[in-house]
Amino acid sequence: HLSTTSVARAGQIHEMIVIGGGLMGAGIAQVGAQTGHKVTLVDLNQEVLDRSQARIQASIQRVAKKQFQGDPSAGETFVQSALANLQIATQPHAALATADLVVEAVVENLELKRKIFQEYDAIAPAKTIFASNTSSLPIGDIATATQRLDRFGGLHFFNPVPVMKLLEVIRIPETSDATFQAMLDWGQAMKKTTVKCQDTPGFIVNRILVPTMMEAVRMVERGDASTRDVDTAMKLGAGHPMGPFELADYVGLDTVKFILDGWHAKYPDQPLFKPSDMLNQLVDSGKFGIKSGEGFYKYEKK
Ligand code: NAI
Repeated sequence: HLSTTSVARAGQIHEMIVIGGGLMGAGIAQVGAQTGHKVTLVDLNQEVLDRSQARIQASIQRVAKKQFQGDPSAGETFVQSALANLQIATQPHAALATADLVVEAVVENLELKRKIFQEYDAIAPAKTIFASNTSSLPIGDIATATQRLDRFGGLHFFNPVPVMKLLEVIRIPETSDATFQAMLDWGQAMKKTTVKCQDTPGFIVNRILVPTMMEAVRMVERGDASTRDVDTAMKLGAGHPMGPFELADYVGLDTVKFILDGWHAKYPDQPLFKPSDMLNQLVDSGKFGIKSGEGFYKYEKK
């Protein structure tokens, strides 16, 4: 173990960098800014950042409208102070000099994530904690690109970040207790409910959801039940808000396949992670779910 004396103390995360201003990164940056953190959002170019910033601004305004219904001037103060907490940048260097935490939310690509963390590791101060928002890659496989395994973990949010209450906080065997506690405290400061999990495929939620979706697909493949009946059964019989096929179409079948294939490659003997012909064929023919207009179901094109 490396020394952890210089790690940001529990409850001491004030300044954070979010890398990747897409769907998840913009949400994480927004919540950070709303909860009083100094946030720098980093993405590839100014155009992407301007789009993210506009989206965040609109979203903060919606939050203010809801939270301060009877008090528009308090709402305006909330909006202004949240916006004042948020910076955008194409380069992390300036913010990295004082950052307590870096949360990475770039595209789901192991080599890219490793490359970014390796670069950041060389310039970040010793105190800075690094974390990935990856859904399906092992945190340990990303962390080994750095020299700070004791100050590395997973912070897995859910879409849409400003709405979903859950934050999965992940530790690798090397994560120090101080780092883990700081991540948990930060989650609370972000007003999320935290759950703890080891660095296992899919952490808690996706480890249960993805095999559940695949088990539903396998049932239909065998001809045991129809897609619609499986969804109806799980909603009315198990109380799930969405059936497994509705959920798969919502998440995106390409994403489900990407996650499953990655796990299958790493754990070929795990029957829960076995590929499915039906899913593969849908993805091969461009049927990705709601976003492409068709998946297991057809959707009205917007
Ligand atoms: P996205 O595609 O919406 O956003 C990715 C962003 O990363 C883009 O803005 C892109 O320009 C940026 N980017 C790419 N290369 C970069 C680089 N070198 N430096 C800085 N920025 C770069 O993707 P999304 O959905 O936000 O996912 C991001 C991460 O969050 C992935 O690891 C994913 O597994 C994870 N995740 C996604 C969830 C979801 O529901 N979409 C839920 C929880 C986690």
